[in-house]
Amino acid sequence: MTVQWTRKDLVGLQDLSAGEIELVLDTAKSLQEISLRPIKKVPTLRGRTVANLFFEPSTRTRISFELAEKRLSADTIHVAGSTSSTVKGETLIDTIRNIESLKVDMMVVRHSASGAPHRLARMSDVSVINAGDGINEHPTQALLDMFTIREKKGKLAGLKIAFVGDILHSRVARSNMWGLTRLGAKVIVCGPKTLLPPKVEAFGVEVTTDLKEAIQDADVINLLRIQSERQAQSYFPSIREYANSYQINSEVLKHAKPGLLIMHPGPVNRGIELSSDVMDGPYSVILDQVTNGLAVRMAVLYLLSGVRAKVEKE
Ligand code: CP
Repeated sequence: MTVQWTRKDLVGLQDLSAGEIELVLDTAKSLQEISLRPIKKVPTLRGRTVANLFFEPSTRTRISFELAEKRLSADTIHVAGSTSSTVKGETLIDTIRNIESLKVDMMVVRHSASGAPHRLARMSDVSVINAGDGINEHPTQALLDMFTIREKKGKLAGLKIAFVGDILHSRVARSNMWGLTRLGAKVIVCGPKTLLPPKVEAFGVEVTTDLKEAIQDADVINLLRIQSERQAQSYFPSIREYANSYQINSEVLKHAKPGLLIMHPGPVNRGIELSSDVMDGPYSVILDQVTNGLAVRMAVLYLLSGVRAKVEKE
């Protein structure tokens, strides 16, 4: 059965079916070649307006969405939290109401509060895309991670995919756990006990504090940075001790499976979760992830715009 995209918003992968995830990945595959043309632009979103609202810092996600919107010929506006009137006390809801008044079609939202994009999606007719909410979800990052693995390995089902690092504060890990398990991958999460969420097994993943066990026979290792900005307390004695136990470097990869992929959503703390030689070495697909993020975000904008066009016609 052919799956149709019917959702107004993309707020997370928790509720998406395997078919919907595959539809995004297949759509991204078909849009990938636009960025290889001499003139890298199509008129798909001509006349549509997208507001990019980033209330938390971002390099990759923000520029990737901006470029995806330009590739599809959308008009764009940008609001950075630090220079918006939220710093003068305006609520997020009031800011959104003002942006809606300008008749935008879609909003891309990054916010430090888990659930903020979900709230906006419920209260607004505008399509909302979650660009990362607190420690909850980062759906387009997980989609581009899955796209990258599928490009390199030709499949996701049956692969062993290890997540190593700060799982507790990672929205990237959460979205990946929802998405990868739904598509049949075997996911194992690894980190110090203090950085593993309680009841994480409920995602359908294996859990270990032993790096060797996590990476043995792994097809993919996805590293997660220590998110000091979200840690009000100390979760381990020192960065050096963390790196001694959990850093991925050439020594721990001595027995790596041939064809291993080393992934990281960025930004990377070079020399902490990942050594420089491995980050820049042959296993690393970190920059491929960035490249693929563009096609994936174009796909999400394209699919959501199709739903808006249908609603407007009715
Ligand atoms: N991966 C990711 O979300 O990176 P940015 O914070 O730079 O957007």
